[in-house]
Amino acid sequence: MYKRLFIGALATFAISTNVMAHGACEARPLHDDMVGIQKKLKAMSGSLKSGDNEQAAINVEQVITLFKNAREQTPYLFVEKKLSGDELAKEMAEYQSVIDDTIVVFTSLETALENNDSAKIKSLMGQIGKQKHIGHSNFKADC
Ligand code: HEM
Repeated sequence: MYKRLFIGALATFAISTNVMAHGACEARPLHDDMVGIQKKLKAMSGSLKSGDNEQAAINVEQVITLFKNAREQTPYLFVEKKLSGDELAKEMAEYQSVIDDTIVVFTSLETALENNDSAKIKSLMGQIGKQKHIGHSNFKADC
């Protein structure tokens, strides 16, 4: 009985120190969504390079699903700033508006892929880079 409690306490300690070591940001669902988005974008680039636009469009759809989930998460920066009430609501609305703009860009990319419109695909990839910059410079904590 005591042995079990001891092992349980040790395990809890190991898990919590592990979480602390990886930083507060990384222990959050938004972090997982973002890492998923990055992975799917890499897969999309691979499909694009091998000329498989159909698969690339599927990857884009998966990115959109992840952004829809990310939209409902609170950025760690807002927790760090201890935002609440109206202030939190205002910042959340701004965050969600940038996510919405990003989803619009990805939806256009899906159409461009389906139409094999290379010029449009290229310009939309540039816009995605810009959306990432806007999102990270305004809502990503330094952690
Ligand atoms: C468009 C492509 C994007 C990619 C590939 C991307 C990728 C990532 C990655 C890999 C991380 C984790 C970084 C790390 O651990 O150092 C991250 C974090 C983060 N990203 Fe993005 N991101 C994108 C767009 C956006 C947008 C549009 C927003 C906001 C509107 C956003 C908000 C954030 C926030 C707030 C974090 C920190 C996580 C947290 O607060 O819990 N990202 N992103």
